[in-house]
Amino acid sequence: MSVTIARHRTAMSRVSLSRPVARAIEDGLISRRTNVLDYGCGRGGDLDRLARLGITCDAYDPVYRRQDVSEADVVNLGYVINVIESVPERERTMRRAWSLAREVLIVSARLTTEARDLEGEPHGDGYLTSKGTFQTFYTQAALRDFVDGTLARSAVAAAPGVFYVFRDETCEQEFLLRRVRRALPPRSQVAFSRHQDLLGPLVEFVEERGRLPRREERLAFTTLEEELGSVRNAFAIIRRVTRR
Ligand SMILES: C[S@@+](CC[C@H](N)C(=O)[O-])C[C@H]1O[C@@H](n2cnc3c(N)ncnc32)[C@H](O)[C@@H]1O
Repeated sequence: MSVTIARHRTAMSRVSLSRPVARAIEDGLISRRTNVLDYGCGRGGDLDRLARLGITCDAYDPVYRRQDVSEADVVNLGYVINVIESVPERERTMRRAWSLAREVLIVSARLTTEARDLEGEPHGDGYLTSKGTFQTFYTQAALRDFVDGTLARSAVAAAPGVFYVFRDETCEQEFLLRRVRRALPPRSQVAFSRHQDLLGPLVEFVEERGRLPRREERLAFTTLEEELGSVRNAFAIIRRVTRR
């Protein structure tokens, strides 16, 4: 039995940026330096908000915004593949979006954890909903496999249900490096944790006297000075970590 699927009815009116686009801004991949193509833009919520942020953005949607598209630094394929009932068409759509991305393609899809509330008839690898739409759901691993397999690239996980595919290996390495740096605790936090035993007596000294130890009082802090350069440096670390 053939069914007509109203894909466009999956498009919601957004009141804020979609999660993948907000994430890409946070990750520094979308900025005023880049232009964006929102491929499968739905009602254009991301398009409007990006424009308000001063970010150049164009969009395409087979129902809401039929127009010629051209390449962009960043292409967003946001929650599009999970509304397409035909797997070959899903692949074609993702390849088309990828062909338009000069720097990075952002692919997002709904995850199986979101499928619980959905009431629908099983159809292909997903469900037909009462609204006449189709929805399929991926696990994080299955989504990665689908992206990697379709584009013959290794996607980078950005968040649950969100992947980045980089055109250029150097950009990808730079992004990964930035992410690792961001995840690391600040240097003073590391030094504080490592030298807590040596810093404790200095904290007590300052709390008791309301000042740093004078030259003649520093014998008790020799190891601390050797490890952290000076009592002043050590105290700067304490201040940064405890915000005294
Ligand atoms: C769930 S909406 C997502 C809209 C928007 N990206 C967002 O996040 O708000 C899915 C959109 O994909 C569009 N779409 C369906 N098939 C498509 C295709 N082959 N190529 C591009 N967009 C498609 C639909 O028209 C619909 O607007």
